Amino acid sequence: MHKFPELRLARRMSRLGTETAFEVLVKARALEAKGRDIVHLEIGEPDFDTPRNIVDAGVDALHKGFTHYGPSAGLPQLKEAIAHYVSETRRVNVLPDEVVVVPGGKPIIFFSILALAEENDEVIYPNPGFPIYESMINYVGAKAIPIRLREEMDFRLDVDELAGLINDRTKLIILNSPQNPTGGVLTKIDIDRIARAIGDRNIMVLSDEIYSRLIFEGEHHSIMSINGMKDRTILLDGFSKTYAMTGWRMGYGVMRADLAAHIARLQTNSNSCTASFSQVAGVEALRGPQDSVDGMCAEFKKRRDVMVAGLNKIKGFSCRLPKGAFYVFPNITKTGWSSKKLADALLEDAGVAALSGTAFGDFGEGYLRFSVANSIENIEKALERVATWADKNL
Ligand SMILES: Cc1ncc(COP(=O)(O)O)c(C=O)c1O
Repeated sequence: MHKFPELRLARRMSRLGTETAFEVLVKARALEAKGRDIVHLEIGEPDFDTPRNIVDAGVDALHKGFTHYGPSAGLPQLKEAIAHYVSETRRVNVLPDEVVVVPGGKPIIFFSILALAEENDEVIYPNPGFPIYESMINYVGAKAIPIRLREEMDFRLDVDELAGLINDRTKLIILNSPQNPTGGVLTKIDIDRIARAIGDRNIMVLSDEIYSRLIFEGEHHSIMSINGMKDRTILLDGFSKTYAMTGWRMGYGVMRADLAAHIARLQTNSNSCTASFSQVAGVEALRGPQDSVDGMCAEFKKRRDVMVAGLNKIKGFSCRLPKGAFYVFPNITKTGWSSKKLADALLEDAGVAALSGTAFGDFGEGYLRFSVANSIENIEKALERVATWADKNL
Protein backbone atom coordinates (compact mmCIF):
# COMPACT_ATOMS: atom_id res chain seq x y z
CA MET A 1 0.00 0.00 0.00
CA HIS A 2 1.21 3.52 -0.78
CA LYS A 3 2.56 5.17 2.37
CA PHE A 4 2.35 8.96 2.61
CA PRO A 5 5.37 10.75 4.02
CA GLU A 6 4.78 12.36 7.42
CA LEU A 7 2.58 15.46 7.13
CA ARG A 8 4.64 18.27 8.63
CA LEU A 9 2.05 20.94 9.37
CA ALA A 10 2.94 24.33 10.81
CA ARG A 11 2.42 24.34 14.59
CA ARG A 12 -0.22 27.02 14.35
CA MET A 13 -2.56 24.55 12.61
CA SER A 14 -2.99 22.66 15.88
CA ARG A 15 -4.58 25.80 17.33
CA LEU A 16 -7.12 26.27 14.55
CA GLY A 17 -10.65 25.18 15.47
CA THR A 18 -13.65 24.61 13.25
CA GLU A 19 -17.39 25.00 12.93
CA THR A 20 -19.12 21.81 14.03
CA ALA A 21 -22.28 22.60 12.08
CA PHE A 22 -20.58 21.46 8.91
CA GLU A 23 -19.40 18.20 10.54
CA VAL A 24 -22.87 17.38 11.84
CA LEU A 25 -24.27 18.09 8.40
CA VAL A 26 -21.86 15.52 6.91
CA LYS A 27 -22.87 12.95 9.55
CA ALA A 28 -26.55 13.60 8.90
CA ARG A 29 -26.06 13.24 5.15
CA ALA A 30 -24.27 9.92 5.67
CA LEU A 31 -27.28 8.65 7.65
CA GLU A 32 -29.57 9.85 4.85
CA ALA A 33 -27.46 7.98 2.31
CA LYS A 34 -28.26 4.83 4.32
CA GLY A 35 -31.97 5.57 3.93
CA ARG A 36 -32.66 7.40 7.23
CA ASP A 37 -35.01 10.38 7.34
CA ILE A 38 -33.35 13.32 9.11
CA VAL A 39 -34.83 16.71 10.04
CA HIS A 40 -32.07 19.28 9.59
CA LEU A 41 -31.99 21.81 12.40
CA GLU A 42 -28.21 22.05 12.59
CA ILE A 43 -27.15 24.50 9.95
CA GLY A 44 -27.40 28.27 10.23
CA GLU A 45 -28.70 29.36 6.89
CA PRO A 46 -32.07 30.64 5.74
CA ASP A 47 -34.01 27.97 3.87
CA PHE A 48 -35.52 30.64 1.61
CA ASP A 49 -34.33 31.32 -1.92
CA THR A 50 -32.51 34.59 -2.58
CA PRO A 51 -35.22 37.15 -3.52
CA ARG A 52 -35.95 37.25 -7.25
CA ASN A 53 -34.89 40.86 -7.85
CA ILE A 54 -31.43 40.09 -6.43
CA VAL A 55 -31.01 36.90 -8.49
CA ASP A 56 -32.04 38.83 -11.61
CA ALA A 57 -29.47 41.54 -10.87
CA GLY A 58 -26.75 38.90 -10.46
CA VAL A 59 -27.67 37.12 -13.71
CA ASP A 60 -27.87 40.41 -15.55
CA ALA A 61 -24.42 41.34 -14.18
CA LEU A 62 -22.97 38.10 -15.55
CA HIS A 63 -24.42 38.89 -18.99
CA LYS A 64 -23.03 42.41 -18.78
CA GLY A 65 -19.51 41.12 -18.20
CA PHE A 66 -19.05 41.40 -14.42
CA THR A 67 -16.93 38.29 -14.70
CA HIS A 68 -13.55 39.90 -14.04
CA TYR A 69 -11.42 40.91 -11.07
CA GLY A 70 -12.45 44.07 -9.28
CA PRO A 71 -10.79 46.26 -6.65
CA SER A 72 -9.76 44.31 -3.51
CA ALA A 73 -11.89 46.42 -1.17
CA GLY A 74 -14.97 46.10 -3.37
CA LEU A 75 -16.70 47.73 -6.35
CA PRO A 76 -17.18 51.49 -5.82
CA GLN A 77 -20.96 51.28 -6.39
CA LEU A 78 -21.36 48.63 -3.66
CA LYS A 79 -19.06 50.45 -1.20
CA GLU A 80 -21.18 53.55 -1.83
CA ALA A 81 -24.43 51.63 -1.20
CA ILE A 82 -23.04 50.05 2.00
CA ALA A 83 -21.73 53.40 3.29
CA HIS A 84 -25.18 54.88 2.73
CA TYR A 85 -26.95 51.90 4.36
CA VAL A 86 -24.71 51.85 7.44
CA SER A 87 -24.88 55.64 7.79
CA GLU A 88 -28.70 55.43 7.86
CA THR A 89 -29.09 52.35 10.05
CA ARG A 90 -26.37 53.14 12.60
CA ARG A 91 -26.81 56.93 12.49
CA VAL A 92 -23.12 57.61 11.80
CA ASN A 93 -21.38 59.17 8.84
CA VAL A 94 -19.67 56.38 6.88
CA LEU A 95 -17.55 57.03 3.78
CA PRO A 96 -16.91 54.44 1.02
CA ASP A 97 -13.22 54.31 1.99
CA GLU A 98 -14.26 52.92 5.36
CA VAL A 99 -15.90 49.89 3.73
CA VAL A 100 -14.23 46.58 2.77
CA VAL A 101 -16.34 44.05 0.87
CA VAL A 102 -15.25 40.44 1.39
CA PRO A 103 -16.53 36.94 0.52
CA GLY A 104 -18.93 36.54 3.50
CA GLY A 105 -18.97 37.84 7.03
CA LYS A 106 -16.38 35.31 8.11
CA PRO A 107 -13.37 36.90 6.39
CA ILE A 108 -13.94 40.08 8.44
CA ILE A 109 -13.49 37.95 11.59
CA PHE A 110 -10.44 36.25 10.08
CA PHE A 111 -8.82 39.43 8.79
CA SER A 112 -9.58 41.63 11.81
CA ILE A 113 -8.11 39.16 14.28
CA LEU A 114 -5.14 38.49 12.01
CA ALA A 115 -4.51 42.21 11.58
CA LEU A 116 -4.90 43.24 15.22
CA ALA A 117 -4.11 40.44 17.66
CA GLU A 118 -0.85 38.66 18.44
CA GLU A 119 1.01 37.00 21.31
CA ASN A 120 0.52 38.69 24.68
CA ASP A 121 -2.67 40.37 23.47
CA GLU A 122 -5.99 39.44 25.03
CA VAL A 123 -9.18 39.22 23.04
CA ILE A 124 -12.51 39.07 24.87
CA TYR A 125 -15.21 37.11 23.06
CA PRO A 126 -18.73 35.83 23.82
CA ASN A 127 -19.07 32.26 25.06
CA PRO A 128 -21.20 30.46 24.06
CA GLY A 129 -20.50 32.15 20.74
CA PHE A 130 -19.74 31.71 17.07
CA PRO A 131 -16.83 29.22 17.20
CA ILE A 132 -14.69 31.05 14.65
CA TYR A 133 -13.87 33.81 17.16
CA GLU A 134 -12.14 31.47 19.60
CA SER A 135 -10.56 29.48 16.78
CA MET A 136 -8.99 32.57 15.21
CA ILE A 137 -7.84 34.10 18.51
CA ASN A 138 -6.00 30.86 19.30
CA TYR A 139 -4.68 30.59 15.77
CA VAL A 140 -2.91 33.95 15.90
CA GLY A 141 -1.44 33.07 19.31
CA ALA A 142 -3.37 35.66 21.32
CA LYS A 143 -5.12 34.83 24.59
CA ALA A 144 -8.82 34.04 24.30
CA ILE A 145 -10.77 35.52 27.21
CA PRO A 146 -14.39 34.33 27.28
CA ILE A 147 -17.19 36.51 28.54
CA ARG A 148 -20.03 34.25 29.61
CA LEU A 149 -23.50 34.87 28.20
CA ARG A 150 -26.01 34.24 30.92
CA GLU A 151 -29.29 32.43 30.43
CA GLU A 152 -30.88 34.27 33.36
CA MET A 153 -30.12 37.51 31.46
CA ASP A 154 -31.68 36.18 28.24
CA PHE A 155 -28.15 35.40 27.07
CA ARG A 156 -26.86 38.96 27.28
CA LEU A 157 -23.49 39.56 28.83
CA ASP A 158 -23.03 41.05 32.29
CA VAL A 159 -21.30 44.39 31.70
CA ASP A 160 -19.75 44.44 35.19
CA GLU A 161 -18.17 41.09 34.44
CA LEU A 162 -16.89 42.43 31.10
CA ALA A 163 -15.44 45.48 32.84
CA GLY A 164 -13.57 43.11 35.17
CA LEU A 165 -11.96 41.34 32.21
CA ILE A 166 -10.65 44.49 30.51
CA ASN A 167 -7.02 45.30 31.29
CA ASP A 168 -3.90 46.77 29.67
CA ARG A 169 -3.41 43.68 27.51
CA THR A 170 -6.93 43.79 26.04
CA LYS A 171 -6.56 44.51 22.34
CA LEU A 172 -9.95 43.58 20.97
CA ILE A 173 -13.46 42.93 22.29
CA ILE A 174 -15.86 40.92 20.16
CA LEU A 175 -19.58 41.59 20.46
CA ASN A 176 -22.32 39.76 18.61
CA SER A 177 -25.92 40.92 18.67
CA PRO A 178 -28.36 39.40 17.73
CA GLN A 179 -26.35 36.44 18.83
CA ASN A 180 -25.49 33.02 17.45
CA PRO A 181 -26.19 30.50 19.07
CA THR A 182 -28.49 31.92 21.76
CA GLY A 183 -30.60 34.54 19.95
CA GLY A 184 -29.66 36.99 22.72
CA VAL A 185 -29.89 40.69 21.89
CA LEU A 186 -27.95 43.49 23.62
CA THR A 187 -30.10 46.39 24.77
CA LYS A 188 -29.36 50.09 24.27
CA ILE A 189 -28.45 50.27 27.96
CA ASP A 190 -26.05 47.31 27.58
CA ILE A 191 -24.33 48.96 24.64
CA ASP A 192 -24.03 52.30 26.45
CA ARG A 193 -22.59 50.57 29.49
CA ILE A 194 -20.12 48.53 27.39
CA ALA A 195 -18.87 51.75 25.76
CA ARG A 196 -18.50 53.29 29.22
CA ALA A 197 -16.59 50.23 30.46
CA ILE A 198 -14.16 50.64 27.55
CA GLY A 199 -13.90 54.34 28.27
CA ASP A 200 -11.13 56.06 26.35
CA ARG A 201 -8.86 53.01 26.21
CA ASN A 202 -7.37 52.24 22.82
CA ILE A 203 -9.25 48.94 22.41
CA MET A 204 -10.93 47.92 19.16
CA VAL A 205 -14.39 46.36 19.12
CA LEU A 206 -15.38 43.85 16.47
CA SER A 207 -19.15 44.18 16.43
CA ASP A 208 -20.64 41.22 14.58
CA GLU A 209 -24.05 42.43 13.47
CA ILE A 210 -24.73 39.85 10.76
CA TYR A 211 -28.22 39.20 12.23
CA SER A 212 -29.07 42.90 12.62
CA ARG A 213 -32.20 42.63 10.48
CA LEU A 214 -33.48 39.47 12.14
CA ILE A 215 -34.84 40.91 15.32
CA PHE A 216 -38.23 40.02 16.82
CA GLU A 217 -38.55 42.26 19.83
CA GLY A 218 -37.06 45.68 20.34
CA GLU A 219 -34.54 47.32 18.06
CA HIS A 220 -31.02 46.64 16.93
CA HIS A 221 -28.37 48.76 18.64
CA SER A 222 -24.79 49.09 17.45
CA ILE A 223 -21.83 50.25 19.51
CA MET A 224 -20.72 52.09 16.37
CA SER A 225 -23.56 54.57 16.99
CA ILE A 226 -22.16 55.62 20.37
CA ASN A 227 -20.35 58.93 20.45
CA GLY A 228 -16.61 58.38 20.30
CA MET A 229 -16.80 54.66 19.41
CA LYS A 230 -16.88 54.83 15.61
CA ASP A 231 -13.09 55.00 15.25
CA ARG A 232 -12.66 51.99 17.52
CA THR A 233 -15.37 49.81 15.96
CA ILE A 234 -15.15 47.30 13.16
CA LEU A 235 -18.73 46.65 12.16
CA LEU A 236 -19.34 43.28 10.52
CA ASP A 237 -22.51 42.84 8.49
CA GLY A 238 -23.39 41.10 5.29
CA PHE A 239 -25.86 39.58 2.91
CA SER A 240 -25.87 35.87 3.89
CA LYS A 241 -28.54 35.95 6.58
CA THR A 242 -30.51 39.10 5.71
CA TYR A 243 -31.09 38.31 2.04
CA ALA A 244 -30.69 34.50 2.10
CA MET A 245 -27.46 34.78 0.11
CA THR A 246 -25.15 32.36 1.95
CA GLY A 247 -23.85 30.81 -1.26
CA TRP A 248 -23.09 34.12 -2.95
CA ARG A 249 -20.29 34.69 -0.40
CA MET A 250 -20.49 38.35 0.37
CA GLY A 251 -20.18 40.40 3.52
CA TYR A 252 -18.44 43.55 4.65
CA GLY A 253 -16.63 45.41 7.37
CA VAL A 254 -16.91 49.10 8.17
CA MET A 255 -13.95 50.62 10.00
CA ARG A 256 -11.58 53.61 10.05
CA ALA A 257 -10.04 54.10 6.60
CA ASP A 258 -6.43 53.36 7.61
CA LEU A 259 -7.42 49.96 9.04
CA ALA A 260 -9.66 49.33 6.00
CA ALA A 261 -6.56 49.67 3.76
CA HIS A 262 -4.77 46.95 5.78
CA ILE A 263 -7.80 44.66 5.73
CA ALA A 264 -8.00 45.18 1.95
CA ARG A 265 -4.32 44.14 1.74
CA LEU A 266 -5.19 40.86 3.49
CA GLN A 267 -7.94 40.45 0.91
CA THR A 268 -5.41 41.07 -1.92
CA ASN A 269 -3.21 38.37 -0.38
CA SER A 270 -6.02 35.81 -0.07
CA ASN A 271 -9.07 36.19 -2.29
CA SER A 272 -8.00 39.13 -4.51
CA CYS A 273 -11.59 40.35 -4.45
CA THR A 274 -15.20 39.31 -3.90
CA ALA A 275 -17.01 37.91 -6.98
CA SER A 276 -17.93 40.91 -9.12
CA PHE A 277 -21.43 39.73 -10.14
CA SER A 278 -22.24 39.01 -6.47
CA GLN A 279 -21.36 42.60 -5.66
CA VAL A 280 -23.66 43.98 -8.36
CA ALA A 281 -26.45 41.82 -6.88
CA GLY A 282 -25.50 43.26 -3.48
CA VAL A 283 -26.26 46.78 -4.70
CA GLU A 284 -29.76 45.61 -5.68
CA ALA A 285 -30.16 43.88 -2.30
CA LEU A 286 -29.46 47.11 -0.42
CA ARG A 287 -31.17 49.57 -2.76
CA GLY A 288 -34.11 47.43 -3.96
CA PRO A 289 -37.39 46.56 -2.18
CA GLN A 290 -36.96 45.23 1.36
CA ASP A 291 -40.31 43.44 1.78
CA SER A 292 -38.74 39.99 1.39
CA VAL A 293 -36.47 40.69 4.40
CA ASP A 294 -39.49 41.61 6.51
CA GLY A 295 -41.34 38.53 5.22
CA MET A 296 -38.49 36.18 6.15
CA CYS A 297 -38.15 37.77 9.58
CA ALA A 298 -41.89 37.35 10.27
CA GLU A 299 -41.68 33.70 9.21
CA PHE A 300 -38.66 33.04 11.48
CA LYS A 301 -40.60 34.57 14.37
CA LYS A 302 -43.55 32.21 13.79
CA ARG A 303 -41.21 29.22 13.69
CA ARG A 304 -39.38 30.36 16.80
CA ASP A 305 -42.71 30.52 18.66
CA VAL A 306 -43.65 26.98 17.57
CA MET A 307 -40.21 25.61 18.44
CA VAL A 308 -39.95 27.24 21.87
CA ALA A 309 -43.50 26.31 22.89
CA GLY A 310 -42.89 22.73 21.73
CA LEU A 311 -39.53 22.37 23.48
CA ASN A 312 -40.96 23.65 26.76
CA LYS A 313 -43.40 20.72 26.74
CA ILE A 314 -40.63 18.13 26.41
CA LYS A 315 -39.32 16.36 29.50
CA GLY A 316 -35.97 17.74 30.61
CA PHE A 317 -36.00 20.75 28.23
CA SER A 318 -36.59 24.41 29.08
CA CYS A 319 -36.21 27.19 26.56
CA ARG A 320 -36.23 30.99 26.66
CA LEU A 321 -37.74 33.00 23.86
CA PRO A 322 -34.83 34.35 21.78
CA LYS A 323 -35.24 37.96 20.64
CA GLY A 324 -33.34 37.67 17.38
CA ALA A 325 -31.49 35.51 14.78
CA PHE A 326 -32.94 32.11 13.85
CA TYR A 327 -31.77 29.82 16.63
CA VAL A 328 -33.24 28.53 19.87
CA PHE A 329 -30.96 27.44 22.69
CA PRO A 330 -32.78 25.21 25.20
CA ASN A 331 -31.35 24.28 28.57
CA ILE A 332 -31.13 20.48 28.75
CA THR A 333 -29.44 20.01 32.12
CA LYS A 334 -32.58 18.37 33.56
CA THR A 335 -32.24 15.52 31.04
CA GLY A 336 -29.12 14.44 32.94
CA TRP A 337 -27.33 14.05 29.60
CA SER A 338 -24.29 15.98 28.42
CA SER A 339 -24.93 18.26 25.44
CA LYS A 340 -22.74 16.33 23.00
CA LYS A 341 -24.16 12.93 23.95
CA LEU A 342 -27.70 14.23 23.68
CA ALA A 343 -27.08 15.85 20.28
CA ASP A 344 -25.54 12.58 19.02
CA ALA A 345 -28.44 10.51 20.38
CA LEU A 346 -31.06 12.80 18.85
CA LEU A 347 -29.36 12.51 15.47
CA GLU A 348 -28.79 8.77 15.56
CA ASP A 349 -31.91 7.58 17.41
CA ALA A 350 -34.49 10.27 16.68
CA GLY A 351 -33.39 11.55 13.25
CA VAL A 352 -33.12 15.17 14.39
CA ALA A 353 -29.89 17.04 13.65
CA ALA A 354 -29.09 19.72 16.25
CA LEU A 355 -25.82 21.06 17.62
CA SER A 356 -24.35 20.54 21.05
CA GLY A 357 -24.04 23.80 22.99
CA THR A 358 -20.36 22.94 23.45
CA ALA A 359 -19.84 23.50 19.71
CA PHE A 360 -20.00 27.18 20.76
CA GLY A 361 -17.53 27.01 23.63
CA ASP A 362 -17.26 25.55 27.12
CA PHE A 363 -20.10 27.66 28.49
CA GLY A 364 -22.41 25.97 26.00
CA GLU A 365 -22.49 22.82 28.14
CA GLY A 366 -26.05 22.15 29.26
CA TYR A 367 -27.62 23.47 26.05
CA LEU A 368 -28.46 22.47 22.50
CA ARG A 369 -28.83 24.71 19.48
CA PHE A 370 -31.69 24.19 17.07
CA SER A 371 -31.87 26.32 13.95
CA VAL A 372 -35.42 27.28 12.95
CA ALA A 373 -34.40 27.79 9.35
CA ASN A 374 -36.75 24.98 8.36
CA SER A 375 -40.49 24.73 7.66
CA ILE A 376 -43.07 24.67 10.48
CA GLU A 377 -44.03 21.21 9.25
CA ASN A 378 -40.45 19.94 9.74
CA ILE A 379 -40.11 21.76 13.07
CA GLU A 380 -43.27 20.00 14.29
CA LYS A 381 -41.93 16.70 13.04
CA ALA A 382 -38.65 17.29 14.92
CA LEU A 383 -40.52 18.23 18.12
CA GLU A 384 -42.58 15.07 17.96
CA ARG A 385 -39.46 12.95 17.47
CA VAL A 386 -37.55 14.60 20.32
CA ALA A 387 -40.59 14.25 22.64
CA THR A 388 -40.96 10.56 21.80
CA TRP A 389 -37.24 10.01 22.34
CA ALA A 390 -37.36 11.84 25.69
CA ASP A 391 -40.38 9.83 26.90
CA LYS A 392 -38.57 6.62 26.08
CA ASN A 393 -35.08 7.49 27.34
CA LEU A 394 -35.40 9.93 30.26
C1 LIG B 1 -22.33 35.29 14.25
C2 LIG B 1 -21.93 35.00 12.86
N1 LIG B 1 -21.00 35.77 12.27
C3 LIG B 1 -20.59 35.54 11.01
C4 LIG B 1 -21.12 34.50 10.28
C5 LIG B 1 -20.55 34.25 8.90
O1 LIG B 1 -21.44 34.50 7.88
P1 LIG B 1 -21.01 34.30 6.35
O2 LIG B 1 -21.68 33.05 5.87
O3 LIG B 1 -21.53 35.53 5.66
O4 LIG B 1 -19.54 34.20 6.25
C6 LIG B 1 -22.08 33.67 10.84
C7 LIG B 1 -22.61 32.51 10.08
O5 LIG B 1 -23.13 31.57 10.60
C8 LIG B 1 -22.51 33.93 12.16
O6 LIG B 1 -23.42 33.17 12.76
